[in-house]
Amino acid sequence: MKFFIDTANLAQIKEAHELGVLDGVTTNPSLMAKEGITGHDNIIAHYKAICEITDGDVSAEVIATTFDEIVTEGEALAKLHPRIVVKVPMIKDGVRAIKHFSSKGIKTNCTLVFSAGQALLAAKAGATYVSPFIGRLDDVSTDGMQLIEDIRLIYDNYGYETQILAASVRHPMHIIQCAKIGSDVITGPLSAITALLKHPLTDSGLAQFLADHAKAAGK
Ligand code: G3P
Repeated sequence: MKFFIDTANLAQIKEAHELGVLDGVTTNPSLMAKEGITGHDNIIAHYKAICEITDGDVSAEVIATTFDEIVTEGEALAKLHPRIVVKVPMIKDGVRAIKHFSSKGIKTNCTLVFSAGQALLAAKAGATYVSPFIGRLDDVSTDGMQLIEDIRLIYDNYGYETQILAASVRHPMHIIQCAKIGSDVITGPLSAITALLKHPLTDSGLAQFLADHAKAAGK
């Protein structure tokens, strides 16, 4: 399973990359704004900076919502760097644009997906990735993980190559459950990824090993 980090924070992207487990980065307009990245030139420069850190795909989201504008904006984003994936919202013009990008060999990430029907449409349009938002479904008392299961079943039934990119991941159990179901990718905050490291028996076991070693060495 691929691990993407869901942030526009360069320090966190570097930290995840240096851990050696990072396969890519996802951003969205809210995450860019959170880092104070505003204005066309700054946004473009920031995407390029992210692409210089990671070896994997970097999702850059279009702001446009009409077909012609999505195509223009998406093609410009795709030209920035070979690692750029054009992130397109699950709206009618977005589906049309994904089909267009797919026919031109431009990678896409269909975002804001909350139902199996939306995921089916994204796959039929040829999206490289589909992003179901599991945390936001959980927030409204709907089982986000059930959606990942449903999409996995549908894609496997027909051999769709669109990769399931479980997004809006909030905690380590989301990652583990996605891995059990067979999500191709998860994207979440660095905290959810590093939380996978933690176990109290690891900490107490290591403390004991080091204490025994020190005792045997006569310290
Ligand atoms: O990639 C989509 C993701 O950023 C949404 O996450 O935590 O804002 O629901 P969240």
